[in-house]
Amino acid sequence: MAFINEYFLVLLAWGLVPSLAVNVLVLLADDGGFELGTYLNKIVNTPNIDNLARNSLIFNNAHTSVSSCSPSRASLLTGVPCHQNGMYGLHHSVHHFNSLDSVVSLPTLLAQNGIFTGIIGKKHVGPELVFPFDFAHTEETASILQVGRNVTKIKLLVQEFLQAAQSKPFFLYVAFHDPHRCGHSNPEYGAFCEKFGNGEPGYGTIPDWTPIIYRPEDVVVPFFVQDTPAAREDIAAQYTTISRLDTGVGLVLEQLNSRGLLKDTLVIYTSDNGIPFAAGRTNLYDPGTAVPLLISSPYKNARRNEVTYHMTNLLDIAPTVLDWFQLLNSTSPTFGSGKSLMPLLKKEIPETDSKIFYSHNLHEITMYYPMRAIRTRRYKLIHNLFSNSPFPIDQDLYMSRAFQDLLNRTKESQPTNWYRSLKHYFHRPEWELYDLKHDPTEVANLAYDHKYEKTLAGLQAAMLQWQMNTTDPWMCSPYGVLEHGFCMSL
Ligand SMILES: *[C@@H]1O[C@H](CO)[C@@H](O)[C@H](O)[C@H]1NC(C)=O
Ligand SMILES: *[C@@H]1O[C@H](CO)[C@@H](O)[C@H](O)[C@H]1NC(C)=O
Ligand SMILES: *[C@@H]1O[C@H](CO)[C@@H](O)[C@H](O)[C@H]1NC(C)=O
Ligand SMILES: *[C@@H]1O[C@H](CO)[C@@H](O)[C@H](O)[C@H]1NC(C)=O
Repeated sequence: MAFINEYFLVLLAWGLVPSLAVNVLVLLADDGGFELGTYLNKIVNTPNIDNLARNSLIFNNAHTSVSSCSPSRASLLTGVPCHQNGMYGLHHSVHHFNSLDSVVSLPTLLAQNGIFTGIIGKKHVGPELVFPFDFAHTEETASILQVGRNVTKIKLLVQEFLQAAQSKPFFLYVAFHDPHRCGHSNPEYGAFCEKFGNGEPGYGTIPDWTPIIYRPEDVVVPFFVQDTPAAREDIAAQYTTISRLDTGVGLVLEQLNSRGLLKDTLVIYTSDNGIPFAAGRTNLYDPGTAVPLLISSPYKNARRNEVTYHMTNLLDIAPTVLDWFQLLNSTSPTFGSGKSLMPLLKKEIPETDSKIFYSHNLHEITMYYPMRAIRTRRYKLIHNLFSNSPFPIDQDLYMSRAFQDLLNRTKESQPTNWYRSLKHYFHRPEWELYDLKHDPTEVANLAYDHKYEKTLAGLQAAMLQWQMNTTDPWMCSPYGVLEHGFCMSL
């Protein structure tokens, strides 16, 4: 920006030169958590993400509004919660969820304003009408292992994208499939597809990747995973794929850097939801919703290698991107749900409202378990709308060694070494209220404690207001009707 002079501005005003090329790069991990050097994990090796962090504002209170793949991605790309954009569950296969046709997404808006848009990797949202990209190499056109985990292939696609963009401003969304579980789709590659491209006979090679093998005894077990040999093996396998993701992040950034584009590009690194362990993904407990978030702005006075504790929602990403492209105004469709984080990139600003809202409906088609939640710095309130049915377990998690180990230990009445019991995990009360200051692991439910009646009522009112503001179809569900702005029970 240093080169702008009055002459140039006059030319701009006359439309004689194209507007300045400013770009956005979004790097999205799939079920990626805080297993990163920059978030103080000393075992997993993530030099490239750590390096990005040194050039970024590091968010320490960032949350997805929904802990499920497609709903989270749709929310990120539309700026509105899943109950408002219609992506109630997973998009692929028999689950078949799609956003409402009327929703206006970031790629649509950006394309309308002359920005070249691209997606490489996991799309997992639809319909195409709502999420069109000018350049698309996803699971819809290729094998997800190639476009989502083969970092050499991803590097080549980024080169292709940059050529196709010519010198237009661009929005590039690289959605890695690492470090997602391999699950039932490609079990031959190991629990997290850690063997894919590792150079062993039959697994192929990924020329740019040197796999790192971790020893189960070395990994850091987060508080919400049981410390047992089976869980440690699972975590170690995920670390290997985190190092592949990290290599990919480095390769993508290097493609931009070698063309001098990083000096004009806003870079965002985050994840769709928490790691795929019980209490993590598909839950509205912090291990399911808290995500890493790094934003690197090339501007001169941008904050770098600094931490912010601002309460942040991934619904803020869409307005931030619009703001960066100077397209955030009162007519922007996403305006009102999230807030632009651009001011925060320059300096810490007082937090006027620390509330974050969450909305979950399903994951797989069979997993109907609607929840709404609100979090402040101090409290989390979860409303389990269908608390009469047990909490559903997704197939990926169910098949995992970590979860089978929990089931086996519980069945055999052995100590689980887990911080919750499976019985309480499956059977949840309608309301869960946690005091995060004294109970950061969210185990002591205060919702039915008279001392917290006022706190509960205040949070319930704010949540209902948000549900009304965002036209939540589940507003008074399951047993109520809306009357004069209140849900009256039947
Ligand atoms: C990864 O992609 C590169 C480039 O397309 C290819 O040469 C390599 O064989 C691929 N690796 C695997 C394991 O598919
Ligand atoms: C307002 O923002 C929208 C996109 O968010 C954009 O299409 C429109 O051009 C903007 N209007 C003005 C006057 O800048
Ligand atoms: C759980 O128990 C089943 C049946 O005994 C056994 O086959 C399986 O290996 C066990 N899994 C784990 C992770 O302990
Ligand atoms: C709901 O919308 C009103 C009016 O726009 C706004 O003042 C209020 O802050 C919103 N509340 C929530 C919780 O979203």
